[in-house]
Amino acid sequence: MPTVLITGCSSGFGLETARHFLAKGWNVIATMRQPKPDILPASDRLTILPLDVTNHESIAKALAQAGDIDVLVNNAGFGAAVPIELTEPETARQLFETNTLGTLAMLQAVLPQFRARRSGTIINVTSTVTLKPLPLVSVYRASKAAVNALTESLAVEMQPFGVRVHIVLPGRSPETSFGNNAMPHLRGLDNPDYKSMIEGMIANFREEGGPVTHASDVAEAVWQAATDPAAPFRIAAGEDAVQWMAEAG
Ligand SMILES: NC(=O)c1ccc[n+]([C@@H]2O[C@H](COP(=O)([O-])OP(=O)(O)OC[C@H]3O[C@@H](n4cnc5c(N)ncnc54)[C@H](OP(=O)(O)O)[C@@H]3O)[C@@H](O)[C@H]2O)c1
Repeated sequence: MPTVLITGCSSGFGLETARHFLAKGWNVIATMRQPKPDILPASDRLTILPLDVTNHESIAKALAQAGDIDVLVNNAGFGAAVPIELTEPETARQLFETNTLGTLAMLQAVLPQFRARRSGTIINVTSTVTLKPLPLVSVYRASKAAVNALTESLAVEMQPFGVRVHIVLPGRSPETSFGNNAMPHLRGLDNPDYKSMIEGMIANFREEGGPVTHASDVAEAVWQAATDPAAPFRIAAGEDAVQWMAEAG
């Protein structure tokens, strides 16, 4: 059976994707900053490894333990809801270090084995927020739009070597830890000009009604990218994501 390595498996999309591939009989290397051995079903096809995508030593160590892999899923990431003028430099730096440079570091660690074997699949999880000029998520959008851009070029670079490359774009998913993990970066609620904009955005994000993205939608989209050689380069994951992609053209 093939082997998939997934980043950010401690919760949300990464955890559900790891469950999905395990259930389908694949070998799964579920990586997490702080390994939680009990959150996935016990299996001799499951390996849980510590991996922080912002730490090159951690990446090298995890990949040395992982052995050969067939599919890399760059899912680890976080968001921040904050007006541009109030964005802390540290928040901006962390967004790019995790979402963009973390993805780049994982690619650089894995591509040599894929190119040497003339096979392999890269799946980068970005976001449908890259498709619309939404307020308050500007630096997050930029960090994910940068991943879209580098993935587009990567697909062309890898084409001669038989390595498939895909972007999965999830929509809004209130059921994961994404919203809570963004909260420490929130700024501007004490600013009368931004307060209501930020409150409205948080309320909209948490709204469970209407079309949303479920973790299972993302797992299915990643599965399609991994297993269907005819899968599109960009795959929207979630009912809202499919709508947005259609509107964006
Ligand atoms: N939920 C949404 O609405 C939404 C929509 C579109 C796209 N996305 C994207 O989908 C991906 C997964 O998000 P999610 O919704 O599943 O959120 P989540 O539940 O917060 O999961 C994010 C995962 O990324 C991990 N992570 C964060 N920084 C990391 C680092 N430096 N190294 C390794 N792992 C790290 C987190 O680990 P810790 O537990 O250690 O923090 C966690 O496992 C992210 O890239 C996110 O930007 C989310």
